Amino acid sequence: MHKPLSQYLDLANPQNLQAYQSTGGYEGFTNALKMQPQEVQQQVSDAKLKGRGGAGFMTGMKWSFVPMGEDAPKNKYLVCNADEMEPGTFKDRWLMEGAPHLLIEGMMIAAYAIGADVAYIFLRGEYRLCATRLQQAIDEAQAAGLLGDNINGSQYSLKLHLHTSAGRYICGEETALINALEGKRANPRAKPPFPQVVGLFGRPTIVNNCETLCNLPGILKNGADWYTQISDGADTGSKIFGISGRVKNAGLWELPMGTSARHILELAGGMQDGLTLRGWLPGGASTDFLLAEHLDTPMEYDAIAKVGSRMGTGVIIALDDQHCPVGMILNLLQFFAQESCGWCTPCRDGLPWAVEILTRIEAGQGSQDDLDVLQQLCGFMWIGKTFCALAPGAVEPLRSGMKYFADDFQQHIDHKGCPHRH
Ligand SMILES: Cc1cc2nc3c(=O)[nH]c(=O)nc-3n(C[C@H](O)[C@H](O)[C@H](O)COP(=O)(O)O)c2cc1C
Ligand code: SF4
Repeated sequence: MHKPLSQYLDLANPQNLQAYQSTGGYEGFTNALKMQPQEVQQQVSDAKLKGRGGAGFMTGMKWSFVPMGEDAPKNKYLVCNADEMEPGTFKDRWLMEGAPHLLIEGMMIAAYAIGADVAYIFLRGEYRLCATRLQQAIDEAQAAGLLGDNINGSQYSLKLHLHTSAGRYICGEETALINALEGKRANPRAKPPFPQVVGLFGRPTIVNNCETLCNLPGILKNGADWYTQISDGADTGSKIFGISGRVKNAGLWELPMGTSARHILELAGGMQDGLTLRGWLPGGASTDFLLAEHLDTPMEYDAIAKVGSRMGTGVIIALDDQHCPVGMILNLLQFFAQESCGWCTPCRDGLPWAVEILTRIEAGQGSQDDLDVLQQLCGFMWIGKTFCALAPGAVEPLRSGMKYFADDFQQHIDHKGCPHRH
């Protein structure tokens, strides 16, 4: 299978410009420069690339909302979302540490396609090695005339800046990210207007995930047909899939879209000796649990939705049979409660309340009423009840956990303690 992303990670010195160029790096951008920006947009639409940030929105369609042509605002921005604070997700770090030029080239293609002259990488602050390698690569590209004024002798100019985040999960939400980049408190913004029209500093802005952008050089180098043929399922191209939890070898693999979770688990060598898989979160902490019976579902946006979850980031968290699901859900909810930006009441008050109840249940002091209140809280924090998707995402492992692991919750209450603690 073609590996448009991870092929660069095998290079001896992948962060080096010459090493990247020796395997065809920057050819995609060179091709893009010979096209009109709208033609680049069309090629990405034809490739049917879906955003890898979690929601799976069509990238070409998202770009098409940006005003283009003579009357378009003079300044437009491209932002790479490299905040990656989703618990259990570490795919963007792998790409940025291993192939910084791939991301830079992808950003150059995207910026050219939407007519942006300034681009930012919004990087998770703790990703220090990524920051070092990205800055080296940006400097190299600049020195080689690939960034800056009149790139490759063309009329096109692009400035690329690296911004390291001060560090909150909400900064990954694209409008909160824009506020953070402007130096404001990282609260999400009301939509509409959407960032494609009124974004960073009030100008049209595209925010794309790091992995999304890394797919662009391959598409522009080899064409949309080549890209669509990488997978034979409903979604096109390849995906960085992965798994963590008590498997034998947690890790990441670039595989065709539509690969089953069973195959990913097999690549990890299966569960550790003596353990059985009990449940799995398909793409980060803010997705619904699925069970072993769902392992053959193709890892595609619609297929995973059909069985009741979300593909999210595509990096699985496995739950084994000797780990308490209530404890795991409590752990995740503690994270989300801490990371709530506090802007809207259901999330600001609902998440700490859920944590308080789960803590009580896990300690063997829960009551039957607590289970009812938890169910109600899931409703209060669901889609449409809060300002952004943090709270509904936080509710996903809770509501699905209460459905699939109802016996565990009940046992904590009936036996006044955690059945998994011996
Ligand atoms: C609370 C929250 C955190 C998010 N964190 C990230 C993140 O770290 N990285 C990311 O790419 N998208 C994140 N997103 C999704 C972004 O808002 C946005 O949809 C995404 O960057 C779009 O990129 P794409 O179209 O390339 O998928 C987050 C969303 C929410 C609600
Ligand atoms: S849902 Fe939570 S994180 Fe999102 S705006 Fe409301 S308080 Fe902030």
